[in-house]
Amino acid sequence: MDYLQINGGRKLGGNVIISGAKNAALPIIAATILSDKDVTLTNLPNVVDIRTLLKLLTMLGGKVEHEGTTAKINNGSITSTKAVYEIVSQMRASILVLGPLLARFGECEVSLPGGCAIGQRPIDLHLKALEAMGAKIEIKGGYVRAEAHEGLHGAKIIFDKITVGGTENIVMAAALAKGVTTIINAAKEPEVVQLCEMIADAGVKIEGIGTNELTIYGTDRKPLTFKPVEIIPDRIEAGTYLCAGAITGSVITLNKVDERHIRASIDKLETMGCRFDLTQDSITIYPPQKIKPVNITTIEYPGFPTDMQAQFMALTVMAKGESIIEERLFENRFMHVSELNRLGADIWLKGNIAAVKGVDKLYGADVMATDLRASSALVLAALVAEGTTNVRRIYHLDRGYDDLEGKLSALGADIVRKKEVK
Ligand code: EPZ
Repeated sequence: MDYLQINGGRKLGGNVIISGAKNAALPIIAATILSDKDVTLTNLPNVVDIRTLLKLLTMLGGKVEHEGTTAKINNGSITSTKAVYEIVSQMRASILVLGPLLARFGECEVSLPGGCAIGQRPIDLHLKALEAMGAKIEIKGGYVRAEAHEGLHGAKIIFDKITVGGTENIVMAAALAKGVTTIINAAKEPEVVQLCEMIADAGVKIEGIGTNELTIYGTDRKPLTFKPVEIIPDRIEAGTYLCAGAITGSVITLNKVDERHIRASIDKLETMGCRFDLTQDSITIYPPQKIKPVNITTIEYPGFPTDMQAQFMALTVMAKGESIIEERLFENRFMHVSELNRLGADIWLKGNIAAVKGVDKLYGADVMATDLRASSALVLAALVAEGTTNVRRIYHLDRGYDDLEGKLSALGADIVRKKEVK
């Protein structure tokens, strides 16, 4: 197993290119199931989750040519509609194949994803919505078995909670359903918007893109022909590098980034004393001498993203004063707290609220990554900790950050990947 060894205290500087967004690429890869023709995707991030979903497509019988940041996919040859446990257990976003498989083939089996390190993460809202569209669903042997042999039909879906994956699954299902589907309380994250635009560009009429109410006019099972899709920049990766600039007191420029998607993070960084130069596709961060504390509540887009909560917590650890962070989306997304405290942070946790008292110094230690964003928070803290920090279990990082150590090294960090000695 690999780990990252980081010697803290280095000033960073220079430019970093932001990769394509994992969370935009995953539903877009799943959406290719709605087509029986070639689809070309570019600007894919080089991360494990992308390779896992592409592997799932090949296991279903699809043809995938994947090189660098480009994949050419043809799902005209799909022969199986079963997403097996071995893949879904590696990556819960595999549930995104449920809607498109069911819509195109009228039946499918997808392993239940189960819980994960940040919370229970049920899929009840996905299933209830598909049932409203005419699917018969049973859960047996750890699998969701869904059938709609006559095809899905349009329906009015009201989500009790805003769900990104739920919205994506239903948009994909509705694209091939018979009739009109309305989704009320839909998610409007940039990743959902790009999926809707891809499907709309294939000729499916979708009203309300980028709002909380979507109306989709289905094709009645006619497969789609997609135009090539260039994946949008990863707003969470971008936010993570902004935090790297802020925590190390370094001027860093992000290239190939869309500032419109990260305004909530920029706003909080401004409150903490950072200044910015923005162009159409670049952001330069100028950090303050001393970071100011900030209060953060995670909420759906365009509010402050849960996927940036851990990284901002690392930043508040180094602020002068006390910050309060409230996590509203996932019930267990504070696993990084005890690891940050091992580095010398002073964080007090009660339920979904963390009170962070800024400290003057952190000290290197052995810490363990628990989920993707928690891992990047530990790396950020390690960049300023005195001495050596070993961040273990970094397979979480590899799932979602494209060459984190390469990009940080190029900015001047002292970070190397090592192998555990057994
Ligand atoms: C997506 O997960 C992202 N993953 C997550 O990013 C992100 O944290 C999350 O959205 C919130 O922004 C991908 O896009 C692949 P949800 P998703 O359905 O779709 C509850 C990362 O680090 N809920 O919007 O699974 C759920 O438990 C990852 O990159 C139900 O109760 O999130 C949560 O409390 C982690 N029933 C809330 O809704 C359901 O059927 C929002 O979850 C579905 C969700």
